[in-house]
Amino acid sequence: MGERWYSEAVVYCLDVDSFADSDGDGVGDIRGLIGRLDYLARLGVTCVWLHPIHPSPGGDDGYDVTDFYGVDPRLGSLGDFAELLHEARNRGIRVIIDLVVNHTSDEHPWFQSARSSPDSPYRDWYVWSETEPPDRHQGMVFPGEQRETWTYDRTAKAWYYHRFYKFQPDLNFANPRVREEVKKIVAFWLQLGVSGFRIDAAPFIIELTEPGNANSPKDFEFLTDLRAHVQWRGDDAILLAEANVEPDSLVAYFSDAGGSANRLHMLFDFMLNGKLVLALARQDPEPIIDALRDTPMLPADSQWATFIRNHDEIDLSRLTAEQREEVYQQFGPDENMRLYDRGIRRRLAPMLGGDRRRLELAYALQFSLRGTPVLRYGDEIGMGEDLAQTGRYAIRTPMQWSSAPNGGFSSAPAGQLVRPVISGGEFGYEKVNVTAQRRDPASLLAWFERMIHTLREAPEVGSGGCTHIDVPAPPGVLAHRADGPSGTMVFLHNLGTDDVEVDLGALAKEADLPVEVLADQEYGELTFDALALGGYGYRWIRLRRAA
Ligand code: NOJ
Repeated sequence: MGERWYSEAVVYCLDVDSFADSDGDGVGDIRGLIGRLDYLARLGVTCVWLHPIHPSPGGDDGYDVTDFYGVDPRLGSLGDFAELLHEARNRGIRVIIDLVVNHTSDEHPWFQSARSSPDSPYRDWYVWSETEPPDRHQGMVFPGEQRETWTYDRTAKAWYYHRFYKFQPDLNFANPRVREEVKKIVAFWLQLGVSGFRIDAAPFIIELTEPGNANSPKDFEFLTDLRAHVQWRGDDAILLAEANVEPDSLVAYFSDAGGSANRLHMLFDFMLNGKLVLALARQDPEPIIDALRDTPMLPADSQWATFIRNHDEIDLSRLTAEQREEVYQQFGPDENMRLYDRGIRRRLAPMLGGDRRRLELAYALQFSLRGTPVLRYGDEIGMGEDLAQTGRYAIRTPMQWSSAPNGGFSSAPAGQLVRPVISGGEFGYEKVNVTAQRRDPASLLAWFERMIHTLREAPEVGSGGCTHIDVPAPPGVLAHRADGPSGTMVFLHNLGTDDVEVDLGALAKEADLPVEVLADQEYGELTFDALALGGYGYRWIRLRRAA
């Protein structure tokens, strides 16, 4: 593992309440997760990202917090959480948690106090307007589910601001006391031993909201301050943020202009995500090549987090309307599969028609592209979605461990589960589950283990540069390379269905001892000027290993 652990990490994200239920109450819990750490270690995961674990009324699946210093009693206790950190560390797995401080729940005691009186010490912790703001109906994140961003509160006799649902009032980051409190929250969890945070809604945290100004100024200095704080208090802890913003403003999230990274360590690569999904839909790598070319150079020590699916809808808002339509036609043909006029609420396996070859191709591609790969729980066994659930809950169904009742997730009566387990059909737990795939060396799970272990032997993928190899490749084929201090890897991925041949003869002189380390099939001897590649095929070739 290199100096910067996050560059060579494999991140696995999960909802504790949907992962494993240890006490049979129908809700997944921390003890259940501890019992599955060996599974994650064997898979090759090095970092677990937990969606919010704090007490919450659950209006937004935990992203509406009532106590930032606690653990939701449904999931366990603070003691259980400390045990989790210990057990995870024993297995070489780090834990990062969601930091959801753009807003609180409206049931948070701070908001209850703030609304009760203009003299409350917490009044200024939120964003208020005495008069109706003209931008009341602008800037909504959940169109269709959200009607406004300013809501009148009768108790407060004022309007409060909320980027997200109305039960999520925004904290006022212009108030130094709010900033200090956030730093205290961060320090608290670092003290317990987390390895960092996934910062929810980063662009909104640094926004200095002004009523009536849909383009309020941003204060990036808070990110600089937070980073310094994390470095002092957390040793090698990291900040990984969600910031789905215009490409030209991305670099400011990593560092001040021209400097080395002194703000966030990692950002989710939303740009590449949209382009990757478009490329899969078109069976054409061009959008990926565009993304590799058009993304700004990052300051030293900063890193992308690469993903195909996360816990939200696939956000296609960075694509043009025509490109979005192309993706919808392929992957979200029914209205019910789409969400917020910009996304798709499906898992990848059903999106790709359950086609095992195409799934391997998609994940081999994701894991070999620049950045640190992030995998969503259940994707390693090819879980599906439940479109009978509302909104994003379609892709938040319980983990499918076995063919036992409730998919082995819980021993509670089915009606008591946090959400129904997917049952029956191609993606039901009876067919798609960990136990069955564990027994089958040809399963998707076994493939994931192999692929991730291979990746671990190729640190240049995470730590090195990632470039498109500009050769006249057949349509559908992406050739790219990763060069780093540890050596060079070359990758071929065929997004199309035709068997093809690729000429990488120009690379032969660079190859010391070329070895094929991963491929979809046995391709025989390596001849760089005529590399065969099957439909949806992929080949990972080690070109050179540094001495
Ligand atoms: C982004 C999270 O990913 C999403 O799930 C949540 O609803 C919003 N932020 C609000 O916290």
